[in-house]
Formats: sequence, C-alpha cells, structure tokens
Amino acid sequence: MTLNHKIVIDTDPGQDDAVAILLALASPEIEVLGITAVAGNVPLALTETNARKICELAGRGDLKVFAGAQRPLVRPLVTAEYVHGKTGLDGPELPEPSMPLQTTHAVDFLIETLMREDVGSITICALGPLTNIALALIREPDIAPRIRQIVLMGGGFFEGGNVTPAAEFNIYVDPHAAKAVYEAGVPIVMMPLDVTHKVLTTAKRVEAFRALGTKTGSATAALLDFFERFDEEKYGTDGGPLHDPCVVAYLLKPDLFDGRECNVEVETMSELTMGMTVIDWWGVTDRPRNALVMRTVDHDGFFELLTERLAVLP
Ligand code: RIB
Ligand code: CA
Repeated sequence: MTLNHKIVIDTDPGQDDAVAILLALASPEIEVLGITAVAGNVPLALTETNARKICELAGRGDLKVFAGAQRPLVRPLVTAEYVHGKTGLDGPELPEPSMPLQTTHAVDFLIETLMREDVGSITICALGPLTNIALALIREPDIAPRIRQIVLMGGGFFEGGNVTPAAEFNIYVDPHAAKAVYEAGVPIVMMPLDVTHKVLTTAKRVEAFRALGTKTGSATAALLDFFERFDEEKYGTDGGPLHDPCVVAYLLKPDLFDGRECNVEVETMSELTMGMTVIDWWGVTDRPRNALVMRTVDHDGFFELLTERLAVLP
C-alpha cells in the first residue's frame, strides 16, 4: 500500500481515541508525524500519558507525543471520567510509559510542522476538543491555507447531543475553539454523532478483537468492554458508539461513509444550546458550506477494516 496521508493526531485519550490511534499506527497508508494531547475526557496530564501508553502498546515508542492546552479557550474544563474512568483509559492494565513526552508545546509543534511541510500535505485528525487547533490557527493564521484537511469527530444534529440535549462533548467542552476552526476556511470532514452512533461495539465485534490473540487485541477488547458500558446503559443498545476511529477509517476507506457539504455553525452565546453544531443539512441558508458532514456508514465494513488492521500490531 502506498503512503497517502501524513497526519497529526490531536487527541484526548479516551478509549475510543486509543483505538483510532492504533488504527492509524497499523496502517501503512498513514504516516503519523506526531500526536498532540489536549485536555478533554480527562485532564491533560492524563491525556498525554495515555497517548504515550497507546504508542508503546503498539510498539511505537519512537513516536513524538506533545502536550497542549490544559483548558478550553474561554470556558472551564469539563471532563468525562464518568465515561472513561478516572485514568481516562480504564479497562486494561497498561504500564506507565517509558517513552519521553516532547518538551515542545503541541501548538508550537502544529505550527512548525505545517509551516515546514509541503503546502496541502498534512491532515489533522482531531479526536477531542479543538483547543490546540484553534490556538495554532489564532497564533499563526498562515497555517490555514497549508492544511490539507481537518478530519474531526465532533458535533451532532439529527442525533442531538450526548453531553447536553443540544451538544456533543468535543464541541461542548470548547465551543469557542470549534467556532474558530469551522470559520478558518480549512477543508473539514466532520464525523458527528449522526454517523458515530451507527458503529456500535457489539459483543460479537469486541470478541473479534479479543480473538486476535495479541496484546493489542486483548487490550482493545478490554478498553471497549469498559468504554461501552455507559452508553449501553444510556441507549439500551448492544455496544456503544465507537466515535473516534471513524476519523482514521475515513482516511483509509472514505467510501465507507456518505454525507454532504453543509454549512456548520457553532453556538457560543446561549447556555441552553452552548456548543450545538447547527448543520444546514437541507441548504435552507446561503451560508458557506464549510464542512463535508457524514451521516451514514457501512458499519460492518468499518469493523472489518478495524479488526483486519489491528491484527498486524503486537
Ligand atoms: O462525544 C464523543 C467524543 O468525546 C469522543 O471523541 C470521545 O473520545 C470524547 O472525547
Ligand atoms: Ca476523543
């Protein structure tokens, strides 16, 4: 397979982030230039540690992990230990990382990388609150035309919200950052709850990871066994939505997904609908279509890809 994507993963691990990172590291079409951690599911000290734990699980202690924003641009940090556990990566017992945390700040790394690499060659995979990416765009607006695309997990419309009736967690935590990103003029591919709620970690699918018989397979099954319990209880489903790997799966097999170019605006004024992504799905306004919004997915094909790829990791 040929190298098609040079990416930076911005993330708040998080069990589903972990699976997304593993999928990227298992795929020869993707070169991960660095992983930037942001506060979200759990505080930054844990998300950066978790990112390093996942790299070492995949045998990639050579990768560069950077710590970024400790809190959103304006609002206080809201975390989600109730979903991810107190470590943010509850489920398997993963050893403390021995690989170093980079001393460069994540935002500096994003800017330096985008200013150095060829124009249009870098994809940002955003799996958490968009604070780091917004800070980079605000600090150095010249990076915007240099970004190939931002593929992000966040928002929702037909599915409503998962942290308030109106808002999805990543956008809700830092709505001001999300607004800045959606208004930056960078090509965006959006994986909202409308599509991620269609990729459920059913018992059969989790068992397929465990049956790989590898460290990664059993760790992935343990991560999902823990992660899914909250959403199974909430939605009464067999399995929970596996949000973040949709971002990486899109890079590998875009035809798994279907959606349309829409205008997306982010609410930052009303407490009632703070962080809501208002998606003009029916094109009733003449506002710019600033995102390719995904709404359907071949969920069997998604899990086939995920299981097949993770099989190559130790
Ligand atoms: O709403 C789901 C998103 O919030 C996922 O990225 C999950 O990891 C959490 O960050
Ligand atoms: Ca995440």
